[in-house]
Amino acid sequence: MESKKRVLVSGGAGYIGTHTAVELINSGYEVVIIDNLSNSEASAVDGVRQITGVDVPFEIVDTCDKAALKRVFEKYDFDTVIHFAAYKAVGESMAEPLKYYSNNLESFMNIVGMMKDFNRPNILFSSSATVYGEAEELPVTEETPRQPATSPYGNTKQMAEDILRDCCRAYPDIYGIALRYFNPIGAHPSALIGELPRGVPNNLVPFVTQTAAGIRECLSVFGNDYDTPDGTCLRDYIDIVDLAKAHVAAVDRMAEGKMEAKYEIFNIGTGNPVSVLELLNTFEEVNGLKLNYKIVDRRPGDVTAVWADTHKANEVLGWKAERTLGETLKSAWEWEKRVRNIK
Ligand code: UFG
Repeated sequence: MESKKRVLVSGGAGYIGTHTAVELINSGYEVVIIDNLSNSEASAVDGVRQITGVDVPFEIVDTCDKAALKRVFEKYDFDTVIHFAAYKAVGESMAEPLKYYSNNLESFMNIVGMMKDFNRPNILFSSSATVYGEAEELPVTEETPRQPATSPYGNTKQMAEDILRDCCRAYPDIYGIALRYFNPIGAHPSALIGELPRGVPNNLVPFVTQTAAGIRECLSVFGNDYDTPDGTCLRDYIDIVDLAKAHVAAVDRMAEGKMEAKYEIFNIGTGNPVSVLELLNTFEEVNGLKLNYKIVDRRPGDVTAVWADTHKANEVLGWKAERTLGETLKSAWEWEKRVRNIK
């Protein structure tokens, strides 16, 4: 890269944000992190600094606070933003929809508006496979129709995608990419950054590692009567470092002016469906331990199966998932052990 380009990472103290910041820095970008620490710790940014050896600028800013956000735009020169800052708990969004709509949409509109006002062109939005719902075809391509959202959280992802699409269409100098993540799991190989859920984890892998660590007594497998080979749900588990690298590929594409349309969408997954039981077996195998789990009723709202067709990301972004499920599940356990001081 001839000159270093700077990227603003909102929600950069979070799980995906920290890993992405590391990969951006490793690829020669300068990164500025903002985060309101509502679901993350400032120490996570120290992890990024330790891994990269770079004293990454970090400001505690809520992206819903327009005045504070404006000060960030005035202080730092960047031409790309990656917007991660959002609430992400599906269940909580059902109980408190207004909290989700106001936070997730207001913060995103503030970001897009500020990018436009400050003539900063490139917006990368973190979307989700949740937009596909119970998909009409599998694997899902970027053209597979989105289904009506089943939660306010999912709806904020769909609405933000639409906001970005419309703004790219309307404003000549704004370009957007939405990355639809499948199920991000694992941790950085250094075990210096990883996922730090507060309270009882909602997602499978943090529950698995906390059960292995003895924090949770027993893992519940939600249903084994689905129409799948072993009866448990199928998902596309994507390694967090691979996912972070997909962001670098997307930022490169924007920074190098290679976009073919003003708004583009990419699925970011492995393309491999994995069942809950397969994941548990792999976790036990690679880490040499036994998990205490039992089969319970289905969890309301779970789709039977979703996995990605990754051709577009592979061919257009030149990106491909590389780490195996075993490597990723090993890294998840290494991280949990480090956090819990387990030898
Ligand atoms: N599961 C269990 N036990 C648990 C937790 C999960 O059996 O304790 C199962 C689920 O039933 C599902 C699979 O593990 O089959 C994966 O569940 P996660 O909660 O880890 O992930 P989801 O696929 O449900 O969630 C993902 C994203 C959300 C997104 C959601 C909607 O994490 O952001 O997809 O499709 F909203």
